[in-house]
Amino acid sequence: MTFLFNSDARRGVIFADAFARELPDVPFAMDAATVDPNAVRYLITWTVPDNLARYRNLEILFSLGAGVDQFRFDAVPTKVKIVRMIEEGILRMMQEYVTLAVLALHRNLPAYVTQQRAGEWRDIHQPQAGSRRIGVLGLGQLGKAVLDRLKPFGFPLAGWSRSPRRMEGVTCHHGEFGREQMLATSDILICLLPLTEDTRGFLNDNLFAKLPEGAAIVHTGRGPQLDHEALVAALDSDHLSAAMIDVTDPEPLPPSHPFWSHPKIILTPHVASVTQPATAARAVIDNIRRHRAGLDPTGLVDRSRGY
Ligand code: NDP
Ligand code: OXD
Repeated sequence: MTFLFNSDARRGVIFADAFARELPDVPFAMDAATVDPNAVRYLITWTVPDNLARYRNLEILFSLGAGVDQFRFDAVPTKVKIVRMIEEGILRMMQEYVTLAVLALHRNLPAYVTQQRAGEWRDIHQPQAGSRRIGVLGLGQLGKAVLDRLKPFGFPLAGWSRSPRRMEGVTCHHGEFGREQMLATSDILICLLPLTEDTRGFLNDNLFAKLPEGAAIVHTGRGPQLDHEALVAALDSDHLSAAMIDVTDPEPLPPSHPFWSHPKIILTPHVASVTQPATAARAVIDNIRRHRAGLDPTGLVDRSRGY
């Protein structure tokens, strides 16, 4: 019952060490060419390999990332469990990034950088945190983690999910009506939704129009959720004040894309959060133990929901 690691060797070595220590009875392989395909029970990868069918006895397909939209579900036999990455390192990095983004937008950093470039020394009205309302789209592992990390700053916090959720200190909305309520009260809107057919193109002109005048966006979900032209139009008309964008479609953007030089956009190259091999290996090992004990792995994907 081999575990096959299909990614870079730097991370693979860390996984291999953890497996040797914690799960010595599961042979660990990094080279698909030298492995008996019939022995492979577990595979971790970023995308589904074209030759997946050769792993006839595969039981779990692990995603290296929290997102699974890069997997073609129909290429994965239904008997194979698909598991997304839930690990401490990815949570912590997303907490850092979103805190950085919220504070940068709250304290008008994009506008001050523009002023600096123009040699302009001028203060901009600064609301207190207690009157800057934060809304998070997605109350999953990452949405909840960033809301937790934002609590001490004193921003009024809200979140939105598909099904009803509860979180102390956070106004939780769900469904269509809940979405309208949250949008109307989000001065900084953070997208941490998975990419599904329901969320593709979700951040569009219609949604931006529902945000309060001067609202700002943080996008750390997936590129195809954002309508680029609509964002530029909303920023140029001053309806939105600024945006911090980590994910785009395509990645990377072409050199002529307006996001590169837009004064109200801070762009980062899909680095908000990255799976950390040591903590990820521990999470995967725990999941293999759960699976062997007859339990569902943590992060089991519901194919019908798409996440
Ligand atoms: P989870 O699956 O844990 O949470 C997803 C949340 O989104 C849930 O609260 C879910 O609702 C909600 N949701 C999904 N679809 C809808 C919908 N149609 N309407 C309303 N709410 C919806 O995901 P994670 O928190 O682990 O990750 C979220 C995404 O973040 C990933 O899929 C990935 O795309 C992105 N990501 C980006 C990274 C980056 O570096 N930029 C790094 C890691 C992840 P419910 O609770 O009801 O199920
Ligand atoms: C992920 C990512 O999904 O890095 O983990 O985007």
